[in-house]
Amino acid sequence: MYSVGSIILFLVGSSFSNNLPSYIPRCYLDDPKLNECVLRAFNEIRPYVNNGIEEIGLPPLNPFVVSKLTVQQEWSLANYTLTATNYTIEGLNNYDIKEFRYDPETMTFRFKIEFHFLPMSASVEIDGHVIHIPIKGKGFVRVAYGPISAIFEVKGDMKKLKGIEYYTTKKANVGLDMGDGSFNFEGLFDNNQLLVRTTNEMLNANSAMVMKAITPAYEKLAAKGVMRFMKTLTKIPYHQLFPSSR
Ligand SMILES: *[C@@H]1O[C@H](CO)[C@@H](O)[C@H](O)[C@H]1NC(C)=O
Ligand SMILES: *[C@@H]1O[C@H](CO)[C@@H](O)[C@H](O)[C@H]1NC(C)=O
Repeated sequence: MYSVGSIILFLVGSSFSNNLPSYIPRCYLDDPKLNECVLRAFNEIRPYVNNGIEEIGLPPLNPFVVSKLTVQQEWSLANYTLTATNYTIEGLNNYDIKEFRYDPETMTFRFKIEFHFLPMSASVEIDGHVIHIPIKGKGFVRVAYGPISAIFEVKGDMKKLKGIEYYTTKKANVGLDMGDGSFNFEGLFDNNQLLVRTTNEMLNANSAMVMKAITPAYEKLAAKGVMRFMKTLTKIPYHQLFPSSR
């Protein structure tokens, strides 16, 4: 279950590493300008992220496709179960990294990344409601969100395996501001066109509230994606991920 969140950390990790493709810039933990270095690294690897970076398990980012995911939200403003197939996000390579901080004492990363606009699409099966607008059936959906601002915080710990130290992830939090949204479902309600059109109209007319209602689900997905990504990344020993210049 990858998501926007998973991607970001891939890049951060890769920019530190020693045994990685030569086009990935090296940033050193004892560099007083570490944060600037990481910000620059993000921009320098941009041309390579479309097709992914196999060495660190980075999947292709443009488009970024999740073959299957399930989302369940249960609260008064959004209560639904959604299964999405071929969940496709376009334009993830157009990230704009705004802030990066790594605190080696607490082993915590914190960074902020922005996107103007992200179109997404998926085949869906959904049952429930969002802000009391019923959504039910099988179909296809296109949505677009933006501007998006994402803050990631990843806390870790040190683990020793056969004398080698590794970063191990304890917790990932993602805070999202997804801006406004547009929604276009097809085929729901057994392809009842009138109901589908009315649903789309209601969702779009109330998009600010819809975004508020569904954002927690995206935050959870992003955090899960980060945890999954970190599993791959943290197979690289800590001192390769975070080398010193000396
Ligand atoms: C969500 O929907 C289910 C099924 O309709 C219902 O049983 C449950 O009470 C609802 N939960 C909330 C928090 O509205
Ligand atoms: C998902 O995409 C693949 C490749 O484009 C396609 O073969 C498959 O039919 C799609 N599945 C769904 C459910 O849309």
